[in-house]
Amino acid sequence: MNLLWDKCDTLELAKKYGTPLYVLSETKIRERCRIIQDDFLKKYDNTKAVYASKAFLTTAMCKIIEKEGLGLDVVSGGELYTAIQAGFPMAMVEFNGNNKTIDELELAVNHEIGRIIVDNAYELDLLEKICKEKNKVMDILFRIVPEADTDTHEYISTGHKSSKFGINLLPETIFSIIKRAVDSDYVNFKGIHFHVGSQLHDNKSHLNAISKTLHLIKDLKDQNITVEDMNIGGGFGIHYTDDDQVKPLAYFLEPSMKIIEDYCQENDLERPMIIIEPGRWIIGEAGITLYTVGAIKTNGDKKYISIDGGMSDNIRPSLYQAKYHADICNRLDEDKTDLVTVSGKFCESSDLLIRDIYLPKAQSGDILAVYSTGAYTYSMACNYNKQPIPGVVLACEGKDYVLVKKQTFSDLIRNECIPSHLEE
Ligand code: LLP
Repeated sequence: MNLLWDKCDTLELAKKYGTPLYVLSETKIRERCRIIQDDFLKKYDNTKAVYASKAFLTTAMCKIIEKEGLGLDVVSGGELYTAIQAGFPMAMVEFNGNNKTIDELELAVNHEIGRIIVDNAYELDLLEKICKEKNKVMDILFRIVPEADTDTHEYISTGHKSSKFGINLLPETIFSIIKRAVDSDYVNFKGIHFHVGSQLHDNKSHLNAISKTLHLIKDLKDQNITVEDMNIGGGFGIHYTDDDQVKPLAYFLEPSMKIIEDYCQENDLERPMIIIEPGRWIIGEAGITLYTVGAIKTNGDKKYISIDGGMSDNIRPSLYQAKYHADICNRLDEDKTDLVTVSGKFCESSDLLIRDIYLPKAQSGDILAVYSTGAYTYSMACNYNKQPIPGVVLACEGKDYVLVKKQTFSDLIRNECIPSHLEE
């Protein structure tokens, strides 16, 4: 029996579409959305969940998210454009980012998106100017630096004191910018946002950041400023390998809601709407990537099995030392006795997709599936070594659908020009 993914035979998919190939399970994506519905949205009133689309975004993904009743968090003009093209309800879109451009803000204002999460004073200046010109008023949150440390990779920790994201909590900074917004004719101050980091298995950073935000909300109330929205970000960790001590979503959300509700009651505050922003948690485990095994060799003490992709379709091992698990799709019944390193095909020594994994004895031509590759792989893919970006297929109950066609060689030079003097 070959590996099945959402009841599709992975060998058949590899044959039909070629490799490398990203394969997403629609059933698994929807399962995650439903857990969010049951364990958060239906369990607590006045709550919202928005999918952090930087993890993986295509027009079809927008459709799934919309059908599952979630909102969308975008961080660029390109992500917003994708949502617009997919007909995503703009009232359910929020826009994050630490240096939004004028064009991006204009696009957001023109489409009257639900919330802009303002990161800094310069952005507030730009937004007010744009709203004034267009005679519009936008609802905004401010992203704060919650000064909450995380135990995750340094590159994906975002809420520490010297983070590049958000507004610091010094009274002269935070109160003055919020007052500016409250007094503005062009923005409506709605609330506070933070995001502590990504791939977290411990709830303490969220709880720490929540308490700081609650104190801020109380201080604002004392100045007659009401916070209607409190966005506690994403970051909920998933399973890549058995080293990950994965916790259910409720492990993060139950204590969060408890401290929020208790604090509000004790301090006579109306509980704000609570918003979460998961990305990886929704899409990560729904995805696998299929590769064909090519060269197999031993150099020194390392046995390599080489695949036809690598760091251009999954930069995470090179960038964050991320770990993955994998199976050989056509050798599921065989014992995993061979200690190998899965090497990518790129001219870069760090292009090792999985270091030291036990697999059945592979042969050239086998199909390898790397698990938990739904998040931050396709969305971070590049054309290094002029490698085309693989296609994305959606598997659902035994059927397969193309979400993104694989790039061709001609796509690689589509935007290139040769100056006329070089043509002679
Ligand atoms: N909200 C904000 C404001 C964020 O910056 C992020 C992620 C999220 C939500 C979603 O976080 P998640 O639930 O997916 O952990 N490329 C890195 C991850 C970068 C995450 C950046 N921000 C990786 O591959 O691990």
